[in-house]
Amino acid sequence: MSLQDQLIKDRLPSHVAIIMDGNGRWAKKRGNSRVFGHKHGVTAVREVTETSAELGIEYLTLYAFSTENWSRPKTEVDALMSLLVSTISSETKTLMKNNVKLNAIGCKENLPSGVQKRLNECIDKTSGNTGLTLTLALSYSSRWEILEAIKKIVIEVEDKQFDISQLDDEAFGSYLATQGMPDPELMIRTSGEHRISNFLLWQLAYSELYFCDILWPDFRREDYYRALIDYQGRERRFGKTGDQIK
Ligand code: FPP
Repeated sequence: MSLQDQLIKDRLPSHVAIIMDGNGRWAKKRGNSRVFGHKHGVTAVREVTETSAELGIEYLTLYAFSTENWSRPKTEVDALMSLLVSTISSETKTLMKNNVKLNAIGCKENLPSGVQKRLNECIDKTSGNTGLTLTLALSYSSRWEILEAIKKIVIEVEDKQFDISQLDDEAFGSYLATQGMPDPELMIRTSGEHRISNFLLWQLAYSELYFCDILWPDFRREDYYRALIDYQGRERRFGKTGDQIK
């Protein structure tokens, strides 16, 4: 049976989050610059986006550039920003064809104006699409997001627009950048690193975590199927006992 056939179609996650890691090592192994790895990483981005859309997964969130990535060498940061502009421009057609809606989370004001412009254009153009929502986490870190939420809540409490006694999991989630999205049921990280790296710390509370050794530019649809099959074999307990779940 093929990997695709092994998937149980009505037990797919509604939201998959991915830490795309290993571009630099992939390039180094080939005696090339790190930027070469990022460029090849775009193929894997296209592959997981198309596969998610085909499978009917509702949300795919990709960690494309963290707050901490700003401290990389300027040449690499500049190249990544140019790559974002060119990829968003060239892929808008594919997003339209696949009924994908683009979204972005993170401190967008910190992105160069060219990136903000292309991003906003693509978000506008795809806003009526009803299939997969593809969210790019850009200049994003979870601690930044949580602190921003706390600041908003404090202001609203001071202005008497929000009653602090109403603050629970759901209310707090509505102040996060991911408001309106379900929490990811599955988080995938490539390249053999076993860390969360400041990604969706609140939202990953009950997510299944899947780590694989493949470097991101090599990640293909079959590798994605493997992660989904592994997820489908897990028992999600949410703090209950196995018997309670059955
Ligand atoms: C991590 O690998 C990857 C990134 C920081 C950037 C991810 C960017 C892309 C895949 C390309 C563009 C993306 C979009 C959405 C258009 P790393 O550089 O940390 O690799 P290393 O751990 O091997 O050094």
